[in-house]
Amino acid sequence: MAKIYAVGVGPGDPELLTRKAERILRSVPVICSPTGSAEASSYALSIVEEFLDRDRQEILTQLFPMMKKGPELEAAWQLAAEQVAERVRRGLDVAFITIGDPFLYSTFLYLYRIFRAQYPEIAIEVVPGISSINAASVAADLPLGIASDRIAILPATYEDDYLRRTLTEFDTVVLMKVSRVFDQVYGLLKELGLDRSSAFVRRVGAPEEEVVYDLSSLVGQKLDYLSLLIVRKQEIP
Ligand SMILES: C[S@@+](CC[C@H](N)C(=O)[O-])C[C@H]1O[C@@H](n2cnc3c(N)ncnc32)[C@H](O)[C@@H]1O
Repeated sequence: MAKIYAVGVGPGDPELLTRKAERILRSVPVICSPTGSAEASSYALSIVEEFLDRDRQEILTQLFPMMKKGPELEAAWQLAAEQVAERVRRGLDVAFITIGDPFLYSTFLYLYRIFRAQYPEIAIEVVPGISSINAASVAADLPLGIASDRIAILPATYEDDYLRRTLTEFDTVVLMKVSRVFDQVYGLLKELGLDRSSAFVRRVGAPEEEVVYDLSSLVGQKLDYLSLLIVRKQEIP
C-alpha cells in the first residue's frame, strides 16, 4: 500500500535537509506543496528542486485561500485530500513538502487532520525538519535558551495585551508571521525597552537571507512573509 510522507525541507538551504528527506523526495512519484501563498509554495519547491526529476515526478501545487476558516477553505482542503487519496489508491507514494518542520504551524497539519479522520487506512509518515526558528537563532547569534530559560513561540498577530504579557514573562520570545504587523510589534518592543535585544530574520538559509538588529530601519516597509523576530532578553553568561 502506498503512503503519504510529510517532509520538512528546512528553512531554505538545501544542505539543511535531512538525509531521510532527500531520500524520500528523490524516490516518490508525487510531490505536493500545500500552502496558503504561492510565494511560500515556490520557496519550498526551490529548496528541493535539485533533488527532483520533473520528467519522472508529478509536482502538485495546492494553494489554499488565505482565510482562517470557512466553507470555502474547508472545501479546498477536502479537494486537496481527495486528489492525494486518489493517487495513493493508485499505488503512488505522495510526499508533502513543508518549509521547516511539518509539525510547526504548517499548512500540512490541516490536511493531516482530514487524512486521520477520513482516510484512516492511509499511512502517514512525518519526517521532521530544521525549523526556521532554529536556523534564525543561529543566523542572528541569539541562542534560544540556556539552563532554565523560558521560551515562547507564537504568531505576532496576537493582540497587544497578550503579546505584552508574553514578552514580559518569557526570556526568549519568537514571533512568527510578523511581516504584516511589524510596525505595531515594534511599537510594543520599544515601549518595553526590548527593541535593542531583538533580531529580525528574513529568508534564513536562502541566498536572500537578511538579519536586521536595527528594527527602526524596518518601520513602514513592506516586509517578507518569510520572516520572524527573535526577542532575547538575557545576555548569554
Ligand atoms: C506557516 S509558518 C511555517 C513555519 C515552518 N513550518 C517552520 O518550521 O519554520 C510560516 C512562518 O514561518 C516563518 N518562516 C518560515 N520560513 C522562514 C525563513 N526561511 N526565514 C524566516 N522565517 C521563516 C515566518 O515567520 C513565516 O511567517
